Amino acid sequence: MDKIILTGGSKLSGKIDISGAKNAALPLMATTLLTNEKMFLENIPRLGDVGSMRELLEGVGVEIEDSIKSPRSLGLKCEKITNTEAPYDIVRKMRASILVLGPLIARSGRARVSLPGGCAIGNRPVDLHLNALMQMGAQIDLSRGYVEAKLTTGNRLHGSRINFPMVSVGATENIMLAASLADGETELSNVAREPEIVNLAECLIKMGAEIEGHGTDTIRIQGKDSLSGTTHSVIADRIEAGTFAIAACITGGKLELVGANFSDLRAVLDVLLASGARIEENSFGILVEGPNGNPDAVDIMTDPYPGFPTDLQAQVMAYMTRVDGASMITETIFENRFMHVPELNRMGANINVHNSTALIRGVKKLMGAPVMATDLRASVSLVLAGLAASGETTINRIYHLDRGYESLVSKLKSCGAIIDRVRV
Ligand code: UD1
Repeated sequence: MDKIILTGGSKLSGKIDISGAKNAALPLMATTLLTNEKMFLENIPRLGDVGSMRELLEGVGVEIEDSIKSPRSLGLKCEKITNTEAPYDIVRKMRASILVLGPLIARSGRARVSLPGGCAIGNRPVDLHLNALMQMGAQIDLSRGYVEAKLTTGNRLHGSRINFPMVSVGATENIMLAASLADGETELSNVAREPEIVNLAECLIKMGAEIEGHGTDTIRIQGKDSLSGTTHSVIADRIEAGTFAIAACITGGKLELVGANFSDLRAVLDVLLASGARIEENSFGILVEGPNGNPDAVDIMTDPYPGFPTDLQAQVMAYMTRVDGASMITETIFENRFMHVPELNRMGANINVHNSTALIRGVKKLMGAPVMATDLRASVSLVLAGLAASGETTINRIYHLDRGYESLVSKLKSCGAIIDRVRV
């Protein structure tokens, strides 16, 4: 199993190309199940989760080819669904596998998808996905760890008015996918407004669905009998860009984030500005320059978009360990997303957690240490802490990082970080 060894203290400086967004690529890949024509997806990041989605889609009958002309493009074609099962072995690795449920029922009238189960950042149920599909005419049974779904009447899901009791990115996407092939109009309220939702809606519209309201809290979808193939590009990964913006800040360096979208990152950039960073939007993306000396403390609360993203909470906490004074971070999306805290404390941080709030008292220095990561974003927060720490940090279990960060080590290395990936 590989590990990362890094020596802190270098101010990062240079340009980093921001990859396509994992969280946009996965639902876009699932659109393939809605059409028998070829889909061509561009700017697909090379990530573990994309590999898992690929495996899942191939298992149900999708033919996938890497484009020879463009290394980040995939051609996907699902002439026919040959199997309607998403097996436990893939779903357990990646919760977003549940995104095939809606499209499979919509296209073939049935699906058997393993329940994602618990995961490192909390319980993460899928009740919102299931309730909405039931409202649209699916009969759903839970049996031996699987969701077993079939249509009870007719051969299509029907449009419905669905008011989500809480905002869920995945449930919004799953039902958008299903509703695009359903009979009649579906109105979804209290939906997620993330840029990845807009990216998905734009693709479904190109495929022939009629969708309005994406990017607001109510989406209306006019379902179609059939959808066509199209070409669509994955947006830049705002979480990757935010992570590198924090890397510039925590090292007091200066990074150009090429391709990053300023407005998608507004809430995060506001926090970094308040901490003393200098930020500029320009024609290539975003330029971030960390503060001179320690950052000012900022209190942060995670929220659905356009609020501060939970996927950058661990990273900003690593940054706040260096403040003058104290900062408070409240996590409102996931109930168990502070697993990075004990590891940051082992590196000399002073963080106390009470329920969903962490109090971070700034320390003069972080010290390198062997640490172990428990999930994707927690892992990268330890990399950020290591960049700012004195001495050597070893990060174990880095397969989490491979799920969501493309070429992390080489991107950081190209900007002056002393970092290596080693095989043990
Ligand atoms: C997506 C992102 C993930 C991000 C999260 C929140 C992808 C592939 N993953 O995950 O990186 O951290 O959004 O921004 O896009 N919930 C329920 N019942 C449900 C569904 C969700 O109670 O049926 C709860 C969850 O437990 C959580 C909250 O709703 O507390 C938000 O979760 P959700 O937005 O669904 O997250 P994901 O789509 O899984």
